Order: sequence, then C-alpha cells, then structure tokens
Amino acid sequence: MSYLGIDLGTSGLRALLMDTSGQPIGSAESSYSVSNPAPGWSEQDPGDWIVALDSAMAELGQKFSEFKDLRGIGVAGHMHGATLLDDKGAVLRPCILWNDTRSETQAAQLDQTDGVRDKSGNIVFPGFTAPKLAWVKENEPAVFDQVATVLLPAAYLNYHLTGQFVADMSDSAGTSWLDVGLRAWSDDLLAAGGMDKSQMPGLVEGSEVAGTLRSDLRERWGISGEVVICGGAGDNAAAACGIGALHEGEGFVSLGTSGVVLAARDTYAPAPETAVHTFCHAVPGRWYQMGVMLSATDSLNWLSRITGTSPADLTNALGTQLQAPGAVRFLPYLSGERTPHNDSRIRGAFTGLATSTDHNDMTRAVLEGVSFGLKDSLEALRSTGARVEDLTAIGGGSASDYWLKMLATVLDVPLKLPKGREFGAALGAARLAQIAVTGCGPADVITAPETSSVVYPDKDLVDAYQDAYQSFRAAYSGTREIQ
Ligand code: XUL
Repeated sequence: MSYLGIDLGTSGLRALLMDTSGQPIGSAESSYSVSNPAPGWSEQDPGDWIVALDSAMAELGQKFSEFKDLRGIGVAGHMHGATLLDDKGAVLRPCILWNDTRSETQAAQLDQTDGVRDKSGNIVFPGFTAPKLAWVKENEPAVFDQVATVLLPAAYLNYHLTGQFVADMSDSAGTSWLDVGLRAWSDDLLAAGGMDKSQMPGLVEGSEVAGTLRSDLRERWGISGEVVICGGAGDNAAAACGIGALHEGEGFVSLGTSGVVLAARDTYAPAPETAVHTFCHAVPGRWYQMGVMLSATDSLNWLSRITGTSPADLTNALGTQLQAPGAVRFLPYLSGERTPHNDSRIRGAFTGLATSTDHNDMTRAVLEGVSFGLKDSLEALRSTGARVEDLTAIGGGSASDYWLKMLATVLDVPLKLPKGREFGAALGAARLAQIAVTGCGPADVITAPETSSVVYPDKDLVDAYQDAYQSFRAAYSGTREIQ
C-alpha cells in the first residue's frame, strides 16, 4: 500500500510516493512554464498541468513497484489561481496565477466593501481569486458570462482525478469568498464580486475524502484497487503538514518562487488590518498565518537569466563564509509586493551601484533583499501575536548554505534543516491522503521530521544586518516615491 502527494507548483509538478510508515519511496517531476502576456500578468494553461501529471505518473509506474498499490492521493497547489470552467467543465481561458497583479483596482474596490475584511479575515489582495473574477467581468465579459465553476489549481486537479468539483478549506481561504472563521462559502462575500455559491466547488477538509480516482485513469496508470483522493491543500498549508507545523510556535520559512514565513495558530486570530494572511489549515479546527513575498527564488532566477549564470553558480561563487552586508541594496519586488506593504505597483530596484560593483556584489544584494523581505514578513507575523522561536527552512533556495546562514542572521532565528530535505508540500499532501484513507488522527501522521542540522545566526553580524535592513526599508520608501 502506498500514498501519493502531488505538489502542483508554479514552475513544475512534483509527485512523491510514500509508504505506510510515512517514508518517501521516490518521486518524479515535470516542468511547465508561466506566461507573462502583459506587465504584471502571470498565466498558465491548465492543460500543461495534466500533461505534467501524466508524465510524472508514467515515470513513477515504471520506477516503483509500490505505485500499483496506490491507495490515496493528495494534491497541493499554488494558491489563489482562477481556473474558469464552462457548464461542460471545459477551461475557458488560461488560469490567472497568484503572482498576477492586473486586478489591483478590483481588489481595492472589494477590499473597501463593507464586511469583506471581517468575514474573509484578510485584505483582498490583487493576487487573491475574487478580484481576478471581477477583472474578468469587466474586461472579458463574454468569458465571465460562461463561468459555471471556478476552481483553484489543486481543485482543478481534484476534478481531473475524480470528475467532481471539490476543494479544501486551506486553499479556499485564499479566494476572499470563504468565511475563514466558519470554514464555509459566504453568500455575502460571493455577492460582493458578482458570484454565487453554484459556481463554487463543494468544500471538505484537506484530510477528508474528496472522491475516488476515475476508473479510466486507474487503468491507464496500472493501479490495482480503489484510490481515495483527499481534499488536499494550498501549497503552504501542505508544506506546513510536511514539516509537522500544526501548533502554536511551529512554522517554516520557505525560499520558493514565492517567499513565505508561516506560523501555525491554535485559534482563528485574524489581523485584516495588516497584510498578514490568516487562512484555514488543512486539518479541521486549525488555522495558520503567513507573510508572503512574491519573488524569492524568482529574484535569483531573474539575475541568473540576465547574467547567463545558473543560480547555483551565482551562490557558490560567494564561498561558504557569510560576509557583512554589502553596499548594494536590492528591492525584490519584480512582481510587486504583498506582506507588509500590499503594493502591487512597486517594482524591483538596485541602489548603491558603483563602478566597482561586480557579479558577486549583485548576487549578495539579491540574497540580502529577499532575506530582508522575509524579515518584513516575520516582523508582521510577530505583530499579530504569532509565536516564532525557530523555523524550519524549506524550498529550493534552502539548497544554498550561504543564503541559509544569511537568512538565519537577518531573521536572528535558528533555521532547522529536515533530514533528507524531503519535507515539502508533496509530503504534506501524501500525509493528508493517508489520514483520509486510514481515518487516523492528524497528529499521528503530521509530525516534525528529524532535524539534520540547525543553522544559527552569526551573532557577530546580526547588528550589521539589522542596520542594512533599516536601509532596505528606507530604500523601499524612496523607491515608492519615484516609481
Ligand atoms: C500564498 C501565495 C504563494 C503561492 C505560490 O499566498 O500566493 O505562496 O501559493 O506557491
């Protein structure tokens, strides 16, 4: 018997096979692209997700005998994306993604509507789903009129796998249509954006059964018995399940395409007066809070593209010993900013460039800028009362020891590294599937991984990085004025 966790990421899909004792068996990956048809726009063809899924499933089937005994699947997806379906279930337009900021005006309008922040527990950010539909209504009315169902990316995969429209609470919390405290669609929130409940999928908890795998897929993939699909999760809630963050004081910092600092909360404690996100967790009766920046490894990938040097070569060139902060500042706002400024118009900037500035100075500035952006999120989280004493580091950027040391020093928080580093959203999603299949308690499965090492702040450099953080904050204000 085995379980599968699917991480439908922004740059690719990762499928992880897990055994009944919770140990990873093996994984397969397949990438796809993001299109940026206009500045600030970010879209993806849902058909590409299905192609990637098929390729990952074929690879797993070939490589691992345990695959044919699959009993449960959980899907974690990049959050907030609007996948629009007509009344036959066909996709109407490319999915508008989480880091798309075209709906800034619509978001501000919804955000100012009476009761919206109170019920949704959050600011309505342009990246969230409701303003995207308001944008489609205004700019693509012929498409809007045909929208029979709106699915988040993970719920779209659930639909592909089961034939049913089912979403989980953690992902649905990022739509601005969910009453996040009550864990139910809100008629008032839906009506504020010209939507209604008939366009929403059914809701289940992430660890509950959403349906069973379509028999044609089961045959195509060579799976012997019935396969349960659980509700799944938004990728951040799933990653929290992967590292065992369920309770107050437990959390992670993620250096992924987006940058996230997340803290699990025992109660629903929204702070909609701040840009901290408060969402349902993927298991019943729990919530979490997070600060989100839109371009974390995306900033390093951008530098890699324009310098023609791979991200690993850029970071390896810095050596292993953390240096004091450099004179160059980088604002990592290539796609705008969420926490703490909620500023979708701001764009990236370098300051302090000199004739002597070289590749390494610019790489350091980018790593510093992203780390300072994450410190902004940490401070915002702490201001809401979330406890953050230590954090587990996850995401592709955590492969750089230099960046980890810098991040620990900037945040002044020890960073735990999970053994095997196989503790992302895919593992969390597989764990949710195991709960749905076996009916065990969430705490039996969602446990903290063994720590392989802890990266401690460099105490000799904490003050210098604190000063540099203040100059980063000042650079934001100055850039805001001229952009
Ligand atoms: C969270 C967010 C991103 C995406 C991409 O609010 O927008 O972290 O989930 O992974």
